[in-house]
Amino acid sequence: VPEIKSTMKLAIVLLSILFTCCNARLQLSRQSYMKFPYQYTNGDPTSPRYGLFQNAAHKAAFHTVDKILYVASARSAQKYLHIIDMNNPAAPTILMTHVFENTVDGHITALDACSDTIAVALSAADPVGEGHIELYTPYNRADRVFTRTHRITVGVNPKDVAHTSDCTRLVVANSGAATLNPSSNTFTDPEGSVTIIIRNDQGFPIEINMDFTQLNDRVVDYITNGVRYVFRGDHGAGIVNTFSQDLEPESVTISNDDRFAFVSCQRNNAILKIDMFNQRIIELYSLGAKNWTSFNIDTSDMNDAANLRYHTVYSFYQPAQLAYSVIDGKGYVVSVDTGKMTTYTQAQHGYAFNDGVRARVAWSDGELDTTTMNPTLLAQIQDNQQLGRVHMSRVDGYNIFNKIGDVFLFGGRGISLWDSTTMAHVFDSGDDLERRASQLYPNTFNGDCSNGNQSPTQQVDERSDDMGPEPGALASGVVGTTPVLIVGSRNGVIYVFNMRGVSANFESAHREGSTNDIWNNLYTNDAAGDQIISDMGFVGAGNSPSGTPFVYVIGQATGSLSVYNVVDVPDIF
Ligand SMILES: *[C@@H]1O[C@H](CO)[C@@H](O)[C@H](O)[C@H]1NC(C)=O
Repeated sequence: VPEIKSTMKLAIVLLSILFTCCNARLQLSRQSYMKFPYQYTNGDPTSPRYGLFQNAAHKAAFHTVDKILYVASARSAQKYLHIIDMNNPAAPTILMTHVFENTVDGHITALDACSDTIAVALSAADPVGEGHIELYTPYNRADRVFTRTHRITVGVNPKDVAHTSDCTRLVVANSGAATLNPSSNTFTDPEGSVTIIIRNDQGFPIEINMDFTQLNDRVVDYITNGVRYVFRGDHGAGIVNTFSQDLEPESVTISNDDRFAFVSCQRNNAILKIDMFNQRIIELYSLGAKNWTSFNIDTSDMNDAANLRYHTVYSFYQPAQLAYSVIDGKGYVVSVDTGKMTTYTQAQHGYAFNDGVRARVAWSDGELDTTTMNPTLLAQIQDNQQLGRVHMSRVDGYNIFNKIGDVFLFGGRGISLWDSTTMAHVFDSGDDLERRASQLYPNTFNGDCSNGNQSPTQQVDERSDDMGPEPGALASGVVGTTPVLIVGSRNGVIYVFNMRGVSANFESAHREGSTNDIWNNLYTNDAAGDQIISDMGFVGAGNSPSGTPFVYVIGQATGSLSVYNVVDVPDIF
């Protein structure tokens, strides 16, 4: 009998090896990499200038029928929209660079491509001025023209745009960011707002603007539910800042049936749900906080390596980008939980304010309730190798003694799924992003790309005290029959997940670029990869010229475009 048992055991072991062996994993396979010029000397297209940290590329949108990718700079002096032929994703070429020359405009902030329209969002040069949306007919390859059809005034600082699936309506999220008002020379926080632009048969669009002043009556409810009202003014200094002024929309996504728009108010840790038929706000939902008690996190930039530990701290999700996904017939909002700190300075905003503070400083300033807080947590806060360096909120976590009793950090350092009906949090990737990166890319773990004279390995761990991996871009689609989610992090790691069930399951991660030279040299040699990923998009097999699904990835620091095929690779043990 024992022999039969061991034979069975062996069979089971062999079977499980077979299973591991022949599972396939979705992976990224590099097709092409290109950098964008940030300027053409004297406007001469034959004299491009290139440079690291020049914001040469920032946002992109793909026109599926034409196989054209539109890539925008984030520069006020050179507002470029590069129009790129993607008929061969392995060798993209610039067909034309459209230059926006209106000096009333600040820079290009967002793009969206619909079948018959390209929408471009522009901030105003005046930081309190209203922004604009320009609508264009898609680039015409035969005539080589890119023609503007409309210029529409929207709210202050349009940050994101999204079309409904039939292209008849365009939703614009206007952040209305705080600034020093150049005419009054005082702190000003313009109202955030949402604009819906509706096409009509007469050829001129109808515009509906929604500000959030109606929400001010319920501010106590919202705060109780966890919505962050970050800067409430300084009444002694004569600065009033209402709740609606403090609400700052960052991004927007629309449900597949075009009935709802979801707007992320990133720093407020909230999502606004909008009824697209009646053009009204349905509700403002708090996203709550992530409990790190049973997840690993690296909160110190002083280890020169990954140092994942357990800490009894919390963090706000604060998504920079949203997507909408249907799983088993039910709609979900997908978020990349980036994190955002609010910093105002006297010089730039007319008032100095910071909602973050290093934990050890909060402790030494006597802001923490040392009588009620867990002694282990307090010891970790006094240790710069652990929680001492981390940026925590100094406006949240107060108890009845008016001291901070709970530590709240910025950013969920992962991805989440939210029930689109109730906005309940139904999935969290936990510590997947940091754990996988620590295993796969330990030399550049939570690294930065901010110093051209340092190498990626010299900048390892520098973001651990900030928002860690800081996922800021996402793309979703289907590969074969598998729904996939691809996530781009600040430090250039791209994660692939499958979405079988109401969860995101890790498949693989990819980091492009070398590590063995300083950033400036890597940049010159086209080996810096995708740094500070600011946008991505997925193109399914049916729309891909090669028939293979691909993702495009924009790195803002590197001013780059990468194209990766998404391929199913059999696992070899
Ligand atoms: C966080 O999680 C821990 C462990 O599961 C639990 O003991 C604690 O009560 C949680 N905190 C909150 C506020 O729910």
